[in-house]
Amino acid sequence: MSGCTTIEVPTNRRLEGKVVIITGGASGFGESTVRLFAQNGAKVVIADVQDERGQSICQELGSSGNVSYVHCNVTSDIDVKNMVDYAISKYKTLDIMFNNAGIPGNLDFTIVDADNENFKRVFDVNVYGAFLGAKHAARVMIPAKKGVILFTSSIASVVSGESPRSYTVSKHAIVGLMKNLCVELGQHGIRVNCISPTAVATPLLTNAMGVDKTVVEKILCESSNLKGVVPTAEDVAEAALYLCSDESKFVSGLNLLVDGGYSTTNQTYTRVIKNFLS
Ligand SMILES: NC(=O)c1ccc[n+]([C@@H]2O[C@H](COP(=O)([O-])OP(=O)(O)OC[C@H]3O[C@@H](n4cnc5c(N)ncnc54)[C@H](O)[C@@H]3O)[C@@H](O)[C@H]2O)c1
Repeated sequence: MSGCTTIEVPTNRRLEGKVVIITGGASGFGESTVRLFAQNGAKVVIADVQDERGQSICQELGSSGNVSYVHCNVTSDIDVKNMVDYAISKYKTLDIMFNNAGIPGNLDFTIVDADNENFKRVFDVNVYGAFLGAKHAARVMIPAKKGVILFTSSIASVVSGESPRSYTVSKHAIVGLMKNLCVELGQHGIRVNCISPTAVATPLLTNAMGVDKTVVEKILCESSNLKGVVPTAEDVAEAALYLCSDESKFVSGLNLLVDGGYSTTNQTYTRVIKNFLS
């Protein structure tokens, strides 16, 4: 009938048919993103060094054959090359590369006592690993003239002094890499963004703090700017979904903070004044 308006049925499968690689996909933010992306119709390749965890997520989600695992140490050029080639040989294309794998490194709050090898190790995984992921993804995305590259940075990219130094510097470097690639790859229709989450009680943080998840969450909630919400890995996965789906098709060069507004404020002055006047 002419003049009828077609009503589009909303779909919750926002990544239908998209081919995605997620490094660090066997745990924490990566694992939550694997689950959410798979629910949204993506074909997901989990890339990690935790083979057992990666395989078991595959078995749990992979009845459709749309979730697979490759062993990939992101600090190895050949591993990263093979990871991208695996996705291409299996699916013929790569739509989304999520460079998420990372390590906290050791606590190194004093520069004089800082461990040089720790600094190099953190940079190797967090920066060089992300660089390699972007490089090999760009190799196949440029000829396709489309694609999305996403990085996991951290609130440490905007708030200094709360995380170990090598980690903080590495996460600043990720933002620099993201902005640089946003300009270069924009010419080829490729969007490049990063997510900067606040502290979340994933294995990375609970292991680094050496306490139980519930204790970590209590500390995070008490120090949070936004009350009434426990930050979770799913919150980060939802941000990744936005930045990888067509809802953000004109968003590039963004460092998206997922921190409940923590980085916009500094409560120290208020607390000192309150204590002083009470
Ligand atoms: N948890 C937090 O509080 C927090 C906050 C901000 C940013 N981040 C960042 O988020 C990302 C994910 O961290 P998470 O909290 O989910 O930690 P996680 O430890 O739960 O997961 C990280 C995953 O990366 C993998 N990985 C580590 N080194 C690797 C390597 N060389 N090659 C391949 N995979 C490797 C690990 O095996 C693990 O599965 C990291 O980049 C981290 O720096 C974490």
